[in-house]
Amino acid sequence: MAYDGEILRRAKQRFDAQRQERRATLESRRQSVYRRQPRIREIDAELRKTSARVLSAALRHGDPQQAVEQLREKNLNLQAEKTSLLAQLRLPRDYLKDEPACMVCRDSGYTDDGHMCWCLQKLCVQEQKKDLSKMLDLDNQSFENFSLDWYSDRIDKTQGISPRKYMEHIYKACLDYARKFGANSGNLFFFGSSGLGKTFLSAAIAREVSAAGFSVVYDTAANVFQRFESERFNREASAGNEINRVLHCDLLILDDLSTDTPSQFMRNALYQIVNTRLLEHRATILSTNLEPTNLEKYSPQIASRVQGEYEIFGFFGEDIRKLKRKYHGKPPYGKHP
Ligand SMILES: Nc1ncnc2c1ncn2[C@@H]1O[C@H](COP(=O)(O)OP(=O)(O)O)[C@@H](O)[C@H]1O
Ligand SMILES: [Mg+2]
Ligand SMILES: [Zn+2]
Repeated sequence: MAYDGEILRRAKQRFDAQRQERRATLESRRQSVYRRQPRIREIDAELRKTSARVLSAALRHGDPQQAVEQLREKNLNLQAEKTSLLAQLRLPRDYLKDEPACMVCRDSGYTDDGHMCWCLQKLCVQEQKKDLSKMLDLDNQSFENFSLDWYSDRIDKTQGISPRKYMEHIYKACLDYARKFGANSGNLFFFGSSGLGKTFLSAAIAREVSAAGFSVVYDTAANVFQRFESERFNREASAGNEINRVLHCDLLILDDLSTDTPSQFMRNALYQIVNTRLLEHRATILSTNLEPTNLEKYSPQIASRVQGEYEIFGFFGEDIRKLKRKYHGKPPYGKHP
């Protein structure tokens, strides 16, 4: 879906302010040039008149060809005089040019077929990044900064593979998912104990997908449930908007789904989120300490939806938060080859 109301509102506000500022800059340039060289003011007035005349001559019946030609010639002469006067003032020829900053949408923000132009979308991307940054450390948690050195290369007997080898697989799958994100992207389920990089990889994905122009919402499951609840009890308009964002954004990342026994309300909310998004083919990343089968706690339907429709990644290894403290920020497993 497109960006939600709040992000779009902020982006449009900046868009209008920028347009206003360009107009003001041009106007103040014009006034200072006119003061220095009053002839340019006359030329501008003439040019406005000739273009109006060209138009009316072109619309007149009979043979307007000659009149149009003459006016065009006059116009070119005036332009040339203006350029040379600007040059005398050591100003570039386009110094007073009144052209839109974006030729694609002529500064309307939308293309002729009704799509948002990239010039406005860019501002939406920036506004969304501000929101995501409130919850995630987007500056540091990127694919480039993800290190495999925090995962042991010793084979884990129960898993039959080393944490490092397996994390490398998860990392590659997440990178691929983020880079190829689009209308047909599926869903991911991250599970495993704390401190293994689930939120880190979620942030890295959010960063890439958001920069590519998709609407992305990241939040903890606890926050989201609270919003659903406050909408139900207070009918708060702001909570309603937030719920729409959660239900319909291009990518939802629902983090830290609790292992505690959920209330009936939480079960319903999670079911509504998972189900609505599956029906609308919108991508979701769920992350939790719960094993996929323990999702039955929420409901058997949710457990079966996730097992059928989500790609499942079980993180294992040692708590990196603890390792960082113990080894003063230096990975204990040496440099990864
Ligand atoms: N691959 C990694 N490279 C560097 N730091 C990491 C990596 N994975 C996790 N961390 C750091 O370890 C801590 C725990 O990671 P986090 O993603 O929050 O774990 P989880 O969400 O699985 O509980 C965070 O401070 C995070 O920045
Ligand atoms: Mg986490
Ligand atoms: Zn544009």
